[in-house]
Amino acid sequence: MSIKYLAEKRAWFIETATTAYVFGVEEGNKLLHYYWGTRLPNQTDYPGVGPLPNQYVYDTHEAAYEYLGWGGINYTEPDLKVTFADDVRDLVLFYHDYDLTENNVSSELKVVLKDAYYPFQVNLFYRVFNDSEIIERWASVLNLGDTPTRIEQISSGTLHLPSPGEGGYRLTHLAGRWGAEFQVNRTNITDGKKSLESRRGHTSNEATPWFALDYAGPGRAGADEDQGQVWFGGLGWSGNWLVTVEQSTYLKGKGVRVSSGINPFDFSWNLKPGQSFETPVLSFGYTSEGFGEASRLFHRYQLRHILPAEFAGKPRPVLYNSWEPIQFDVTEQSQMDLAEVAARMGAELFVIDDGWFGARDSDHAGLGDWFVSPTKLPNGLKPIIEHVHALGMEFGIWIEPEMVNPDSDLYRAHPDWVYYFPTRSRTERRQQLVLNLSRTDVQAYLFEALDKLLSENAISFVKWDYNRPVSEPGWPEAPSAEQREMWVRSAQGFYNLLDRLRAAHPQVSWESCSSGGGRVDLGVLRRADQVWTSDNTDPYDRLFIQEGYTLAYAPRTMFCWVVDTPHWLGKRDTSLTYRFHSSMLGGLGIGGHISNWSEEEKTTARGLVEEYKQIRHLVQDGLIYRHLSPRDGSYTAVSYVREDRLEAVLFVLTLGRRLALPPAQVRLKGLNPTTLYRVEGVGEPFTLSGAALMQHGLNFGHLKYDFDSAKIYLSALEPGK
Ligand code: DGJ
Repeated sequence: MSIKYLAEKRAWFIETATTAYVFGVEEGNKLLHYYWGTRLPNQTDYPGVGPLPNQYVYDTHEAAYEYLGWGGINYTEPDLKVTFADDVRDLVLFYHDYDLTENNVSSELKVVLKDAYYPFQVNLFYRVFNDSEIIERWASVLNLGDTPTRIEQISSGTLHLPSPGEGGYRLTHLAGRWGAEFQVNRTNITDGKKSLESRRGHTSNEATPWFALDYAGPGRAGADEDQGQVWFGGLGWSGNWLVTVEQSTYLKGKGVRVSSGINPFDFSWNLKPGQSFETPVLSFGYTSEGFGEASRLFHRYQLRHILPAEFAGKPRPVLYNSWEPIQFDVTEQSQMDLAEVAARMGAELFVIDDGWFGARDSDHAGLGDWFVSPTKLPNGLKPIIEHVHALGMEFGIWIEPEMVNPDSDLYRAHPDWVYYFPTRSRTERRQQLVLNLSRTDVQAYLFEALDKLLSENAISFVKWDYNRPVSEPGWPEAPSAEQREMWVRSAQGFYNLLDRLRAAHPQVSWESCSSGGGRVDLGVLRRADQVWTSDNTDPYDRLFIQEGYTLAYAPRTMFCWVVDTPHWLGKRDTSLTYRFHSSMLGGLGIGGHISNWSEEEKTTARGLVEEYKQIRHLVQDGLIYRHLSPRDGSYTAVSYVREDRLEAVLFVLTLGRRLALPPAQVRLKGLNPTTLYRVEGVGEPFTLSGAALMQHGLNFGHLKYDFDSAKIYLSALEPGK
């Protein structure tokens, strides 16, 4: 890993062990992109640096600028668009200088651009870590003058893809809706622009800011799990975001670029004299080993450099959550009863969900009043917490700080604390409105209320929910030039609040939830230790949701509950083992009415929880290999391999068996060919080499029926090999 500068070419080389990203200063003093792909042996191997010409130098209006200010004759998606105080809307950025810093963890490059006339500066930042293949980039702008400048669009960066030769690019992205987040979508890129985005004020259940591009098209099959070039990335932003993939009509197949950042829709920022504005981080990578390796590289980066360090290396506890069986009927007795059963099953964390505070008898009231309900829990939380602790578990609680019910003390006292336009109605969703976290007084109220809750009670886990998108985004109290800053200030307000609470209560770990998986991105994952993946807890549907999730995000963050059967969504009936196996593919939780489970079910559950604890280090910290996709047929097969390859676990789950399809044959991946592995879980334990397991594989003829499953554990007989 290194970042180097070659003075005679005025070019920078950002290199990881296998990848290179190169750009430089062209004659006109603008920054041009040169290369993104496999690392090459010599600096002069890169086009634009040595004998090979830069493939991206065309007519100026199509050139591959490293960071495009909107000005001059340019029509592609700009990175930055501003209006100066004199109403000039033309930004002309020239290279000024650079700074390179290194420590034993990472290298960071800052490239400074300045406007040709106005005292306005843009800093481009690039960072690589010693132990990662992922590159980070972001930008900041500085107003060095004495009049304000209006920012109308600002991206974290644009990535230019190399020419694919024959065929073209294919985009993989994750889209869906409530109950169906992270569905894998694939589409060939054609001339024009494809946008992935949120305009809802949060990351959204409908899409997540992650993309992957591979070569496909006429005569080209494209990458698969194990081979093929994939360029991928994700944006760390939990507010309105945008990813655009644009293919030039002039440069067919060549001029493909991906730009990502804060969504410019309805955005504007009044940059006052002396102030700066920084974008979110865009993290990106490249591999020639398919989507599987792209996921593994991105996961490892998240484990090492995104997830909060306090909990990143520790096992995520098995939790129990009472939302599905109890809903709002929280009582001391019901919680204590559930806690006893949960502890007997081996749960390590007991979480009270919605319904414990204010006048929260249903979703019609109480949000905003963060004190314990005096009617439902007259003794407060303490007796429950003590009971949970006595049972050997930790205690966790649910909150939804950014929301308020009109029927609440908070709203009655501060009706102006929500987003609203004075002349318009306030559209409610789930009987709630969105608090204006752009306001520092609202942030202060929430910090005080939540700090008190966490200070007065021994809480070690918080599930932070967000159950509706923003509408009528008015902030009439702010100066008109600043009202549209609310989209960004809300997300910053959320980050500030969570950062302050984390700092004040370092023993607490946090779960990001938003009606299921509506707030999952690399920004929230810098502050949340795990995620509630989806409200859809059906173990079969979950296989599709979870597969998509792991394309982008690390399995240790993906929480999955075992709930009651038949499932409330589709009345699908599945065995307890199947439900557990589906949930063991990420962080394990139990969310059923366990007091009603039979003794036999409780015993089976206890055994399965124990089994999970034996292999959770593989799921949570290992390398994921996807073998059979639920989208392709009758099976899902996923394995998790320890980084040193001495241990692995493989899960095989059937979906609907159809038309006498032959049984699954699963070839393991990622093992050491010469190591002998003991294989447990298919018949009597036996021993086989990694080579045999990967070449021939294991047969799952015994999984004959719908919703059948197996868990196979592999351990090296000859450690060290
Ligand atoms: C939506 C979440 O996704 C659920 O798990 C639950 O916490 C409810 N909100 C509570 O209102």
